[in-house]
Amino acid sequence: MTAHIINGKEIVGHVREQIKQEVQALAAKGIQPGLVVILVGDDAASAVYVRNKAKSCEEAGIYSEVHRLPAETSQADLLALIAQLNADKKINGILVQLPLPKHIDEDRIIDSIAVDKDVDCFHPINVGNLMIGKESFLPCTPAGIIEILKHLNLPIAGKHAVVIGRSNIVGKPMAMLLLRENATVTICHSKTTNLEEITKQADILIVAIGRAKMVKRGHVKPGAVVIDAGINRLDTGKLAGDVDFDDVVEVAGYITPVPGVVGPMTITMLLRNTLEAAKKANS
Ligand code: GUN
Repeated sequence: MTAHIINGKEIVGHVREQIKQEVQALAAKGIQPGLVVILVGDDAASAVYVRNKAKSCEEAGIYSEVHRLPAETSQADLLALIAQLNADKKINGILVQLPLPKHIDEDRIIDSIAVDKDVDCFHPINVGNLMIGKESFLPCTPAGIIEILKHLNLPIAGKHAVVIGRSNIVGKPMAMLLLRENATVTICHSKTTNLEEITKQADILIVAIGRAKMVKRGHVKPGAVVIDAGINRLDTGKLAGDVDFDDVVEVAGYITPVPGVVGPMTITMLLRNTLEAAKKANS
């Protein structure tokens, strides 16, 4: 059996068209959502992500500003910029691209972003609201993955979903969103001793471990839905996910290629969060 290869262009195009139409409806009322992306330093991968975010905003009709700051920017200067953007009415979303240079305390920066402009859903108040089921922004990568499953009409309730990875950006919030959809959720991580035994039970396997091609066919139950949230640069210069695609495609029921699905869907959720923030700010 060969897996159904999930088509990122089709799903992303569909959701972005919906967002674009809502942005146009707001424009008719004289409202334009606005996103600021802040990039500190010259990490090559981050620079690519930031460029993609700005381009995607433009295509959706969302106003965007990118602040590219030198690596030696002080924490005080970054905090001052965020304070200014928190007070800026034309800005609905503030995203500080991570990782930050070592001399800057990431938690301190995230804490300083206005809760109602935290479109990444990284602020402890938004994370807490998510945990207790109160309304909050939805974290972009996990929300995008749920959107993919729903778009394909793949059932989540009652299924065993296994998440490999426990990061604050993907693994932990992913588990929370799956739980909200009534899946039975297991989180595995680098210290899990019987990984294959657990992942082989997964109806839905979500991988966000940050190690190229780590998940092989032996980890996967035949017919499972495999979602790869990893992106790694190989020595050859090529990009690869955390799943060994060529191996796993032979046994999975559904699989996402890398790049092309989870990455663009993450940006799509960022656009949606910015749109929702603008709607709320003007309601
Ligand atoms: N670095 C890697 N992923 C992300 C993300 O989703 N948001 C931000 N701000 N930084 C990141």
